[in-house]
Amino acid sequence: MGISGIDEYNRKIKRILITKEEIDEALDKAASQINALYDGRPVLLVSILKGAFVFMADICRRVTVPCEIGFMCAKSYYSGTVSAGAVKITMDLEQDVSCYHVVIIEDIVDTGRTLSDVVKLLKGRSPASLTVITLLDKPSRRVVDFTPDTALFTIPDCFVIGYGLDCGEYYRNLPYIAEYNEEGN
Ligand code: IMP
Ligand code: MG
Repeated sequence: MGISGIDEYNRKIKRILITKEEIDEALDKAASQINALYDGRPVLLVSILKGAFVFMADICRRVTVPCEIGFMCAKSYYSGTVSAGAVKITMDLEQDVSCYHVVIIEDIVDTGRTLSDVVKLLKGRSPASLTVITLLDKPSRRVVDFTPDTALFTIPDCFVIGYGLDCGEYYRNLPYIAEYNEEGN
Protein backbone atom coordinates (compact mmCIF):
# COMPACT_ATOMS: atom_id res chain seq x y z
CA MET A 1 0.00 0.00 0.00
CA GLY A 2 3.01 2.22 0.51
CA ILE A 3 2.23 4.47 3.45
CA SER A 4 4.90 7.13 3.78
CA GLY A 5 4.59 7.61 7.54
CA ILE A 6 2.38 8.09 10.58
CA ASP A 7 0.78 11.33 9.30
CA GLU A 8 -0.46 9.69 6.11
CA TYR A 9 -1.49 6.61 8.10
CA ASN A 10 -3.67 8.78 10.36
CA ARG A 11 -5.10 10.87 7.50
CA LYS A 12 -6.46 7.68 5.91
CA ILE A 13 -8.75 7.19 8.91
CA LYS A 14 -11.59 9.41 7.68
CA ARG A 15 -14.20 9.03 10.45
CA ILE A 16 -15.33 6.52 13.02
CA LEU A 17 -18.47 4.72 11.81
CA ILE A 18 -18.95 2.31 14.72
CA THR A 19 -17.41 2.86 18.14
CA LYS A 20 -15.87 0.20 20.38
CA GLU A 21 -18.82 0.64 22.78
CA GLU A 22 -21.36 0.03 19.99
CA ILE A 23 -19.43 -3.07 18.91
CA ASP A 24 -19.33 -4.39 22.52
CA GLU A 25 -23.08 -3.93 22.90
CA ALA A 26 -23.80 -5.73 19.61
CA LEU A 27 -21.42 -8.56 20.59
CA ASP A 28 -23.32 -9.11 23.84
CA LYS A 29 -26.60 -9.39 21.91
CA ALA A 30 -25.18 -11.72 19.23
CA ALA A 31 -23.60 -14.02 21.82
CA SER A 32 -26.88 -14.17 23.77
CA GLN A 33 -28.62 -15.23 20.54
CA ILE A 34 -26.07 -18.01 19.98
CA ASN A 35 -26.41 -19.17 23.60
CA ALA A 36 -30.22 -19.22 23.34
CA LEU A 37 -30.31 -20.86 19.90
CA TYR A 38 -28.00 -23.76 20.75
CA ASP A 39 -29.24 -24.07 24.34
CA GLY A 40 -26.33 -26.11 25.72
CA ARG A 41 -25.56 -28.03 22.53
CA PRO A 42 -21.92 -27.92 21.35
CA VAL A 43 -21.06 -25.70 18.38
CA LEU A 44 -18.13 -25.18 16.03
CA LEU A 45 -17.35 -21.51 15.45
CA VAL A 46 -15.65 -21.10 12.08
CA SER A 47 -13.86 -17.86 11.39
CA ILE A 48 -12.76 -16.71 7.96
CA LEU A 49 -9.22 -15.34 8.12
CA LYS A 50 -7.84 -12.89 8.27
CA GLY A 51 -10.56 -10.25 8.62
CA ALA A 52 -12.72 -12.05 11.19
CA PHE A 53 -9.99 -12.86 13.73
CA VAL A 54 -10.86 -10.00 16.12
CA PHE A 55 -14.61 -10.66 15.88
CA MET A 56 -13.98 -14.36 16.56
CA ALA A 57 -11.80 -13.63 19.60
CA ASP A 58 -14.44 -11.33 21.10
CA ILE A 59 -17.53 -13.40 20.33
CA CYS A 60 -16.08 -16.76 21.44
CA ARG A 61 -15.38 -15.33 24.88
CA ARG A 62 -19.05 -14.42 25.26
CA VAL A 63 -20.36 -17.81 24.17
CA THR A 64 -21.40 -20.06 27.05
CA VAL A 65 -22.42 -23.23 25.15
CA PRO A 66 -19.57 -25.74 24.67
CA CYS A 67 -17.66 -24.49 21.65
CA GLU A 68 -14.75 -25.45 19.46
CA ILE A 69 -13.14 -22.98 17.11
CA GLY A 70 -11.87 -23.50 13.60
CA PHE A 71 -10.33 -21.34 10.89
CA MET A 72 -10.43 -21.12 7.13
CA CYS A 73 -8.52 -18.72 4.97
CA ALA A 74 -10.36 -17.36 1.94
CA LYS A 75 -8.75 -14.77 -0.26
CA SER A 76 -10.92 -12.56 -2.40
CA TYR A 77 -9.18 -9.22 -2.24
CA TYR A 78 -7.70 -7.25 -4.08
CA SER A 79 -5.73 -4.60 -5.49
CA GLY A 80 -6.16 -1.81 -2.96
CA THR A 81 -9.89 -1.46 -2.29
CA VAL A 82 -11.19 -3.11 -5.50
CA SER A 83 -12.50 -6.69 -5.47
CA ALA A 84 -10.77 -9.03 -7.90
CA GLY A 85 -13.74 -11.40 -8.28
CA ALA A 86 -12.49 -14.93 -7.70
CA VAL A 87 -12.42 -16.51 -4.24
CA LYS A 88 -9.66 -18.92 -3.30
CA ILE A 89 -9.65 -21.13 -0.20
CA THR A 90 -6.00 -20.98 0.81
CA MET A 91 -6.40 -22.85 4.12
CA ASP A 92 -9.19 -25.32 4.76
CA LEU A 93 -10.88 -26.15 8.04
CA GLU A 94 -9.26 -29.02 9.97
CA GLN A 95 -12.52 -30.34 11.47
CA ASP A 96 -14.90 -32.74 9.74
CA VAL A 97 -18.07 -30.62 9.92
CA SER A 98 -20.46 -33.55 9.54
CA CYS A 99 -20.68 -33.91 13.32
CA TYR A 100 -21.08 -30.20 14.15
CA HIS A 101 -23.54 -27.37 14.44
CA VAL A 102 -21.48 -24.81 12.51
CA VAL A 103 -21.58 -21.07 13.13
CA ILE A 104 -19.62 -19.07 10.55
CA ILE A 105 -18.11 -15.91 12.00
CA GLU A 106 -17.34 -13.40 9.23
CA ASP A 107 -16.15 -9.81 9.27
CA ILE A 108 -18.11 -8.36 6.35
CA VAL A 109 -20.39 -9.42 3.50
CA ASP A 110 -19.64 -7.20 0.54
CA THR A 111 -20.17 -8.71 -2.95
CA GLY A 112 -21.26 -11.92 -1.16
CA ARG A 113 -18.88 -14.10 -3.21
CA THR A 114 -16.73 -15.31 -0.30
CA LEU A 115 -19.55 -16.48 1.94
CA SER A 116 -21.61 -17.83 -0.89
CA ASP A 117 -18.65 -20.08 -1.86
CA VAL A 118 -17.72 -21.01 1.71
CA VAL A 119 -21.32 -21.86 2.62
CA LYS A 120 -21.71 -24.03 -0.50
CA LEU A 121 -18.47 -25.82 0.33
CA LEU A 122 -19.36 -26.48 3.97
CA LYS A 123 -23.00 -27.42 3.26
CA GLY A 124 -21.65 -30.00 0.81
CA ARG A 125 -19.94 -31.64 3.79
CA SER A 126 -23.32 -32.11 5.56
CA PRO A 127 -22.99 -30.30 8.90
CA ALA A 128 -25.72 -30.92 11.53
CA SER A 129 -26.68 -27.26 10.91
CA LEU A 130 -25.08 -24.10 9.59
CA THR A 131 -25.63 -20.44 10.53
CA VAL A 132 -23.83 -17.32 9.28
CA ILE A 133 -23.11 -14.35 11.54
CA THR A 134 -21.38 -11.34 10.07
CA LEU A 135 -20.22 -8.25 11.90
CA LEU A 136 -20.91 -5.96 8.93
CA ASP A 137 -23.19 -6.16 5.94
CA LYS A 138 -22.95 -3.94 2.82
CA PRO A 139 -26.09 -5.11 0.96
CA SER A 140 -25.84 -2.38 -1.69
CA ARG A 141 -22.65 -4.02 -3.04
CA ARG A 142 -24.03 -7.53 -3.55
CA VAL A 143 -23.27 -9.26 -6.87
CA VAL A 144 -24.40 -12.75 -5.82
CA ASP A 145 -27.60 -13.67 -4.03
CA PHE A 146 -26.49 -14.17 -0.44
CA THR A 147 -28.09 -13.11 2.87
CA PRO A 148 -26.38 -13.75 6.22
CA ASP A 149 -28.60 -15.13 9.01
CA THR A 150 -27.40 -12.37 11.34
CA ALA A 151 -25.65 -9.07 10.64
CA LEU A 152 -24.63 -6.95 13.63
CA PHE A 153 -24.43 -3.74 11.57
CA THR A 154 -25.60 -2.74 8.09
CA ILE A 155 -23.34 -0.10 6.55
CA PRO A 156 -23.42 2.05 3.40
CA ASP A 157 -21.19 1.48 0.38
CA CYS A 158 -17.85 2.69 1.66
CA PHE A 159 -14.55 0.95 2.32
CA VAL A 160 -14.05 0.36 6.04
CA ILE A 161 -11.07 -0.48 8.23
CA GLY A 162 -10.47 -1.53 11.82
CA TYR A 163 -11.59 -4.29 14.17
CA GLY A 164 -9.90 -6.92 11.97
CA LEU A 165 -10.55 -5.26 8.59
CA ASP A 166 -7.59 -3.96 6.68
CA CYS A 167 -6.45 -1.87 3.80
CA GLY A 168 -3.13 -3.15 2.47
CA GLU A 169 -2.80 -5.18 5.73
CA TYR A 170 -2.81 -2.06 7.92
CA TYR A 171 -5.48 -0.91 10.42
CA ARG A 172 -6.68 -4.37 11.55
CA ASN A 173 -5.73 -3.42 15.12
CA LEU A 174 -7.97 -0.34 15.40
CA PRO A 175 -10.54 -1.00 18.19
CA TYR A 176 -13.36 0.65 16.15
CA ILE A 177 -14.68 0.56 12.57
CA ALA A 178 -13.73 3.59 10.49
CA GLU A 179 -14.29 4.78 6.98
CA TYR A 180 -11.12 4.66 4.90
CA ASN A 181 -10.05 7.89 3.24
CA GLU A 182 -8.97 7.13 -0.32
CA GLU A 183 -7.88 10.73 -0.82
CA GLY A 184 -5.79 11.19 2.30
CA ASN A 185 -2.28 11.00 0.77
P1 IMP B 1 -17.06 -10.41 -0.47
O1 IMP B 1 -16.95 -9.36 -1.53
O2 IMP B 1 -18.42 -10.44 0.17
O3 IMP B 1 -16.62 -11.74 -1.01
O4 IMP B 1 -16.07 -10.00 0.69
C1 IMP B 1 -14.82 -10.57 0.73
C2 IMP B 1 -13.91 -10.04 1.78
O5 IMP B 1 -13.46 -8.78 1.36
C3 IMP B 1 -14.48 -9.80 3.17
O6 IMP B 1 -14.53 -10.95 3.94
C4 IMP B 1 -13.45 -8.82 3.69
O7 IMP B 1 -12.34 -9.51 4.24
C5 IMP B 1 -13.07 -8.03 2.46
N1 IMP B 1 -13.79 -6.74 2.42
C6 IMP B 1 -14.97 -6.43 1.84
N2 IMP B 1 -15.32 -5.15 2.04
C7 IMP B 1 -14.31 -4.64 2.79
C8 IMP B 1 -14.09 -3.33 3.38
O8 IMP B 1 -14.88 -2.37 3.27
N3 IMP B 1 -12.93 -3.21 4.09
C9 IMP B 1 -12.02 -4.22 4.26
N4 IMP B 1 -12.21 -5.45 3.76
C10 IMP B 1 -13.33 -5.65 3.03
MG1 MG C 1 -13.33 -11.63 5.49
